[in-house]
Amino acid sequence: MTDRYAVIGNPISHSKSPLIHQLFAQQTGQDMSYEAIEAPLDGFAATIRRLRAEDYKGCNVTVPFKLEAYQLCDRLGERARDAKAVNTLIFQDGKILGANTDGAGLLNDIEQNLGFKLMWKNALLLGAGGAASGVLWPLFNAGVGVDIANRNIEKAQILAKEFTGSGTVYARRYEELAGRQYDLVINATSSSLSDELPPLPDGLFKPGALAYDMMYGRETPFMAFARRQGATTVSDGLGMLVEQAAEAFYLWRNVRPNTQAVLGQLRK
Ligand code: ATR
Repeated sequence: MTDRYAVIGNPISHSKSPLIHQLFAQQTGQDMSYEAIEAPLDGFAATIRRLRAEDYKGCNVTVPFKLEAYQLCDRLGERARDAKAVNTLIFQDGKILGANTDGAGLLNDIEQNLGFKLMWKNALLLGAGGAASGVLWPLFNAGVGVDIANRNIEKAQILAKEFTGSGTVYARRYEELAGRQYDLVINATSSSLSDELPPLPDGLFKPGALAYDMMYGRETPFMAFARRQGATTVSDGLGMLVEQAAEAFYLWRNVRPNTQAVLGQLRK
């Protein structure tokens, strides 16, 4: 019997995850299906109940259900516990296991695909919502000092406070960024969705700097800004999407797909 998986979100029609997992399955010879399911905004738990009743083996979870998924789990992986968000569910022995592969996806893309070494670097993380909090601990664990900038400074302060005593992390207002320089600037805001640019000053990028937008699909205002400002490498988030998918695939199937090949196919 073909093992069934899905990604659940709202909206979900734009998702590239079914294509990515189909390519992984072909490449590794796994007998599985993977579909996109749009759950009603008040119907996430009911959708999970249905999938379990129909003997699905697991699913991915995307916006806006990652916190609800976290709350639903019987057991959590370390990354999921840190981020208080779950993007991968495994249905096993009547239990729901939850993992978060977003952070590993970002790190793999930056270090392996883009060849950018993270240890000892300083980063500016833009945004303090779910996308930002999901990658904060992994960045910290990779040896990166992080400044978090957000329009709503209280949200950035709350995130920064979780690190007190364990690492270098500061909350900054956008106005405080003038005169500061970073090796790595990550856009984890939703500004690109509305074709906006966070209020960034000139001169933010150190020589050799990487500018990374977690959005994918098109050149964003943040990416254009980074190019104008002379960032050495500018990347969208497609590689992160493929890498987080590969980590989920590994958890489900115990096989590591070749992500570079799939990323190449998607970029074409
Ligand atoms: P997500 O889960 O995708 O992170 P979210 O929790 O709604 O979504 O968070 C959106 C983030 O994008 C927030 O940090 C938000 O900043 P505020 O908290 O100050 O509102 C940020 N954001 C959205 N549009 C932005 C813009 N045009 N400029 C700067 N930040 C923006």
